Formats: sequence, structure tokens, C-alpha cells
Amino acid sequence: MPHDVVAVVGSGVMGNGIAHSLAAGGFTTVLIDAVPQALERARATIEANLAEGVRRGKLQASEALAIGARISTSVDMAAAREAQLVIEAVPEEMQLKHAVFRKLEGVCSADAVFATNTSALSITEIAAAVGNPARVLGMHYFNPAHIMKLIEVVRGLQTGETAVAMALAVAQRCGKETVVINEAPGFATSRINAMIGNEAFYMLMEGVASARDIDKALKLGLNHPMGPFER
Ligand SMILES: NC(=O)c1ccc[n+]([C@@H]2O[C@H](COP(=O)([O-])OP(=O)(O)OC[C@H]3O[C@@H](n4cnc5c(N)ncnc54)[C@H](O)[C@@H]3O)[C@@H](O)[C@H]2O)c1
Repeated sequence: MPHDVVAVVGSGVMGNGIAHSLAAGGFTTVLIDAVPQALERARATIEANLAEGVRRGKLQASEALAIGARISTSVDMAAAREAQLVIEAVPEEMQLKHAVFRKLEGVCSADAVFATNTSALSITEIAAAVGNPARVLGMHYFNPAHIMKLIEVVRGLQTGETAVAMALAVAQRCGKETVVINEAPGFATSRINAMIGNEAFYMLMEGVASARDIDKALKLGLNHPMGPFER
């Protein structure tokens, strides 16, 4: 696979797990954040998660070392210059995401693909930040991103097939499962999750059951790993 260098912008809750997953897939991974302390925390989290993987027998110690060594960190967006895929995981603010993608556009090669890990913002609107919106799509990871299997690959109205193919290939190499979603608020998961959350609060308001029992019903009756009040 020719796309060996990837970058992640934003090294918080999601960014560190996404970088971990990409490095585990064999990619040379550049993790970028505006805040140096965030990068230090991300590095410590990745090291701790790798150590946990070794402790649980999921990884050899030598593999954990190799994964950690494939991740470099930077506060400079220019460090993404060689990346064929950049995944943005900065806070959920449209203007901030636009600023990040505009900056990336000036740094990366014209054929680099830009993915956003947004949970619910419009991919089409995010893609409007760059001259060629065909290169932009959603790659919606779940927390913790180095463990959770699914990535929602989300097409904006102008997302090109090259970008979709790149996201699917990278996800596959990282051992992830994918679903492809067309532009729609909340994609598949966040949309259904919002309904479950709303309904649970209505049930509580109507006195149908206690929060604890609603959580218990969903976990033991519907096999949800967590109840809506536990999130
Ligand atoms: N937390 C979740 O469970 C979850 C799940 C799926 C998707 N998401 C989405 O992922 C994105 C990131 O969420 P998070 O929870 O990881 O946020 P977070 O606040 O934990 O991390 C965001 C990071 O981005 C950095 N940052 C801010 N501005 C920046 C800039 N201009 N350039 C570089 N770095 C910058 C911050 O310093 C911080 O380290 C959001 O769009 C969110 O909706 C979150």
C-alpha cells in the first residue's frame, strides 16, 4: 500500500486513540496538536494503553515498542506535509475545523485525503473550507478508538470515490470494520444514540422507571454495553 504516512490533528480523547490505531496498522503516524502539554498527555496515554495491551496478552512487548516508535508528535501543522491521509480530531466547532483544513490545504500535497472525526457536523459544510471538497470525508471513530472496531466512513455531497477508497483501505489495514454513510445529520450511530438518550429522559420524566432500572433494562434486555444514563 503506497499511503504509508498519515497524520492526526488534535491529540485529545479521540486523537491519541486514532494515532495508536493507525500506528498499529503499520502507518508512520504524525500526531499534531496546538498545545504541547496535550501531546505529552497523548504520548503517555498511548504508552499506557500499549502496556495494557501487553499485560493482557494482546500484543508482544516488541510490537508495542514498534507501534510507539511509529508515532511522532509536533505542534507544527507543517509536520503533516508528507501525509496521504490526515484525520482531524479537534473540538466540535465548525470554524475551528475550517481553520485546520485551510491550513492543511496549504501544507499537504494536492492528492492527500482529509478526514474529519466529527460526531455530528455536516461533512459537506466542513469540506467547503478547501478548494477541492472531493478530498474531504468523515471517518467517525468511537471511544476508545484504538479498541472500538467500527469506523463510520461518511460521504459529504461532493466527496470523491478516491477519498472513500483511501479511508476504507486504511481502516482495513488497521483491522477496523467500516460502514459507508451518506451525508445525514448524526450519521447512523449518533442519530440513533440521540433518540435512545431522548427517550430514556422522557421515560424518567414520566416516572416509567428509575434511571438505574432503565439502564439495567437496556443492558440485560437489549444487550447494550452501557445504559443511556451511564454515558
Ligand atoms: N470524545 C468522544 O467520545 C468522541 C467520539 C467520536 C467523535 N468525537 C469527535 O472527535 C473530535 C475531537 O473530540 P475529543 O473528545 O477528542 O476532543 P478533545 O478536547 O479531547 O481533544 C481535542 C484536541 O484538539 C486540540 N486542538 C484544539 N485546537 C487545535 C488546533 N487548531 N490545531 C491542533 N490541535 C488543536 C486540543 O488541544 C485538544 O488536545 C470532535 O469533533 C468530537 O465531536 C468525539
